[in-house]
Amino acid sequence: MRIAVAGGTGVVGRHAVEAARAAGHDVVVLSRSSGADVIAGVGLVGALRGADAVIDVTNTTTLSAAKAIDFFETATRKLLAAEHAAGVRHHVALSIVGIDGIDSSYYAGKLTQERAVAAGSVPFTIARAAQFHEFAGQLLSGTSGPVAVMPKVLMRPVSAREVGAHLVRVASGAAVGRARDLVGPRDEVLLDLARRQLAFDGVRRRVLGVRLPGAYGKGLASGSLRGGADALRGEITFDEWLGSGDHVRGE
Ligand SMILES: NC(=O)c1ccc[n+]([C@@H]2O[C@H](COP(=O)([O-])OP(=O)(O)OC[C@H]3O[C@@H](n4cnc5c(N)ncnc54)[C@H](OP(=O)(O)O)[C@@H]3O)[C@@H](O)[C@H]2O)c1
Repeated sequence: MRIAVAGGTGVVGRHAVEAARAAGHDVVVLSRSSGADVIAGVGLVGALRGADAVIDVTNTTTLSAAKAIDFFETATRKLLAAEHAAGVRHHVALSIVGIDGIDSSYYAGKLTQERAVAAGSVPFTIARAAQFHEFAGQLLSGTSGPVAVMPKVLMRPVSAREVGAHLVRVASGAAVGRARDLVGPRDEVLLDLARRQLAFDGVRRRVLGVRLPGAYGKGLASGSLRGGADALRGEITFDEWLGSGDHVRGE
């Protein structure tokens, strides 16, 4: 089948593209660098013609609820309109495990995205995954100096490679509304992951943990991001990922 990956150049998108190609699918990548913009609504319908399914893994980096809502609402609306016009029969949106009670900051955007997908006219599956193993590194690279500060987060991180493969399996099946959650093999604390990653990379930097204020901080520390007992479990641990080719030192 033909699968379009919106955000196919990103952290998880690259793995979804690789998994789809490995499974023999015809793959189309939508990103600004390939001339398709889900916010401007440019280059979408033409790229989607002939696609059976779309995997949406576009992203914006922000902690502002307003900016996140604006991005995910607009991107979903523009993508679904283009999919409808192009005759796409399955929209797969990647969301995040355990965010229901955390309707603030970035997660407010993801919950808005889920509602927009469910209200749209294209048959859909919302697939939620836990934080990627790349998450600690993404936060570390967003700050500089000898001391990094990490919010208190209880999580079950999963490899983006396994999430990409999961999304392709979901996209190749029928639209079911909601897929089973996918989480990683072990419970972890973000502060600890950041320290292990810096030690592995040979970077001398202290990491301090803080509990963020408000609903967002409470949600991160609550453990809800680890998902329930019924979630699918990835197999690749954080330490295995650190030692694999998927981890680029210093990233
Ligand atoms: N990070 C995590 O731990 C985690 C966990 C669970 C779920 N998720 C979800 O996974 C998704 C992907 O996250 P990620 O970390 O892989 O993202 P990422 O690395 O930041 O990649 C974002 C992708 O979106 C594309 N993009 C951004 N703006 C666009 C626009 N206006 N039009 C078209 N393409 C656009 C980017 O390509 P261009 O820049 O070329 O446009 C890129 O391919 C997000 O929805 C996120 O909520 C993330």
